[in-house]
Amino acid sequence: MEDNKTPIIIGSDHAAYNLKDYLKELIKQKGIEFRDVGAHSTEAVDYPEIGFQVAGAVSAGEYSRGILLCGTGLGMSIVANKFPHVRAALCNDLFSAIMSRRHNNANILVMGGRVVGDVLAREIVTAWLDTPFEGGRHQRRLDKYENMGCQVHVNTKTVANNL
Ligand code: RB5
Repeated sequence: MEDNKTPIIIGSDHAAYNLKDYLKELIKQKGIEFRDVGAHSTEAVDYPEIGFQVAGAVSAGEYSRGILLCGTGLGMSIVANKFPHVRAALCNDLFSAIMSRRHNNANILVMGGRVVGDVLAREIVTAWLDTPFEGGRHQRRLDKYENMGCQVHVNTKTVANNL
């Protein structure tokens, strides 16, 4: 059963390495187990490599929640949302973080280390981990986009075939 102590998987590129280090302390203090898939220093790494690991593990059900960080959060969120069953939410503000849980049941939180400061990031992570999904009409909506991947694929193929 998922709760706010559920283990999480976390990763960043070099641009958010320091923020990841800072947030790991917070996660530890909260008594939450985590797996850090890197980056392991500020040496440049390509964000998709890290994004694949975190989003792949969440997509496969190995972890029910993950955190991804890069410079802006944009690259990581684009990469992560390519994976089935991943709902990665780029939340560089507190309101988005809360709503991404309440309404979107986001299972990956993404932030930009060059956008948010440490203290804001800390508040965002805390709110994100503690806010439950509201279900109900939001579950119905989520079901609609969970099932959409296939349709889009078919439509794209049809369009491509007609060109
Ligand atoms: C790295 O310079 C930067 O491009 C990356 O961290 C991220 O912001 C990409 O979206």
